[in-house]
Amino acid sequence: MAYISEEELNNIRSNADIVDVISDYLDLKQRGRNYVAVCPFHDDHSPSLVVSRERQMFTCFTCKTSGNVFSFIMKYENVSFPEAVQIVAKKIGYALKGNLSNFKESKYKKEYEIMDFATKYYCNNINTASGIKAIKYLEDRGITKDIIKEFNIGVSLDKKEDLYNILLKKNYSLEEISDLGLVNKINLNVYDTFINRIMIPIENLQGSVVGFTGRIYNGEQDMAKYLNTKETKIFKKGNILFNYHNARNSIREEKQVIVVEGNMDAITLSSKGIKNVVALMGVALSEVQIDTLKKLKVPIILMLDNDAAGLDATVKNGELLRKAGVDTKVVRLSDAKDPDEYIRAKGVDALRDNIKHALSFLDFLLEYLKQNLDLNNITDLKKYINSVISHINYEDDLTKQLIISKISKEYQIDEQILIGEINLTPQKKIVKKEETKEIKPKISKYHKAVSKILYMMMLDNKYITIYKNKLGYFKEKIERVVASEIVYYNREHGSINIADFITYITSNEELSNYVSNIISENKNTIDSVSEFNDCIDAVLKILKEDEIKELRDKIVKELDVDKKVELMNKLMDLKKDV
Ligand code: CTP
Ligand code: MN
Repeated sequence: MAYISEEELNNIRSNADIVDVISDYLDLKQRGRNYVAVCPFHDDHSPSLVVSRERQMFTCFTCKTSGNVFSFIMKYENVSFPEAVQIVAKKIGYALKGNLSNFKESKYKKEYEIMDFATKYYCNNINTASGIKAIKYLEDRGITKDIIKEFNIGVSLDKKEDLYNILLKKNYSLEEISDLGLVNKINLNVYDTFINRIMIPIENLQGSVVGFTGRIYNGEQDMAKYLNTKETKIFKKGNILFNYHNARNSIREEKQVIVVEGNMDAITLSSKGIKNVVALMGVALSEVQIDTLKKLKVPIILMLDNDAAGLDATVKNGELLRKAGVDTKVVRLSDAKDPDEYIRAKGVDALRDNIKHALSFLDFLLEYLKQNLDLNNITDLKKYINSVISHINYEDDLTKQLIISKISKEYQIDEQILIGEINLTPQKKIVKKEETKEIKPKISKYHKAVSKILYMMMLDNKYITIYKNKLGYFKEKIERVVASEIVYYNREHGSINIADFITYITSNEELSNYVSNIISENKNTIDSVSEFNDCIDAVLKILKEDEIKELRDKIVKELDVDKKVELMNKLMDLKKDV
């Protein structure tokens, strides 16, 4: 949390009313002093998420998710803490003083710094005389100066070690530079990796530049069209979707995401106002990418190249996405090699029209499987039906039955016969309610009391004072750590409230989870000194009982008679007060 002051964080937090912010996302209904909504963090059917304006917190009765306004955005939007801060700041029109790119608490700070520097270097080049041809090439492709700027597109020079020398002068070591794939060591010589190419920075999901793709632009015949950064500790192609970070807002607004193959496709679409686009940089879709797309919780439109590889990949990727439970649609473009060429030939409105009429993946698949078959021919029809059935194995029963009924109508085949061919999930035995009743783990009396004490200490510092005077100790380490963080926070700030305390411990996952639990266990707690004192007394009693037990064990084991008597006297003293 080093780059943005805690004061600024608390300022943003306290100016953003959690009820207002959450109502941008959920349908909140007022219930007494609180607001309730259907919880988005588990499969909820009746409202179990409670939002408190008074405490600026939310908590779910069922799945126990809880936190402040930042935690809500982190969970809902699936973003990091700095991004959540940024989103909340934007909502309340707060201009952040610290640059959030400086906010990275990453262990790769230096690596990002070098990549940022390289990005600036390539961008500088394109604005010099050496960049004229590159700009001309881009403009011929419809990429304007504004887009060049927006995507930080640059150019590498026709010099073998220009970037290398500049980075050395900035005191970065050869090891650091070559580990990031910016230079290559060949025997005793070191050369820039990218020479004479248009340079497109590739950002990771959080928006840090982690690699480059370089395209030839002088019509060279003997060089690969694209050269990408090798895999490095920060650049893993399978963990990245090109333009993801840039596209996030628009994906949210449009409620769908378009997936294309090439970076250039993404850049062209984006430059024509279709900004909810990401590129695979090839055709393969990795598990991480599937997971990333799934978390967006919006339908995905696969719009891959108009060639055999693009078609195969549409089938393969579509099935992977369907298996992951993602709503998937397909656009196949005709008369152009890829979306970029399609737009340049037919215009963006024609492309938009294609997007509007995207097929569901299953409808696409049913058509695709007809390829090269003559369905008037019985043998081919059987082949077709068999391949459909084998392809829809992973779909749920309802979908399977819908597909079957569609085929049955289209080819007038008895539906029962087709149903006989597919595997439906065996009917689950209906179990009686009593049997399925969840057995709740027993929470000990001790834990209940500690939980309430810590919760109330976060509410108001009068409880901290009582805790310090009467108790000051807990059995478990995590309890002690939370207590001392609360005490520390209060000392530093002169007061405490839960919502800001949560921000303070955000970077410590263990503490955050523990506190989140405490919050969900105490949602009905009211501000009451006598209740707090009861909890303190309960804990003191348990601690004393523990001590007595320990002493008894010691007495049994003690062989020296004098010492035994001494211990017994001690035991009597202890028992007096109980
Ligand atoms: N690709 C690559 N290396 C190559 C060729 C392709 O990394 N030698 C990747 C690039 O990410 C590229 C994508 O595969 O964007 C799709 O390849 P292709 O269709 O050939 O490129 P286009 O995106 O059409 O690029 P351009 O329009 O600039 O020719
Ligand atoms: Mn292309």
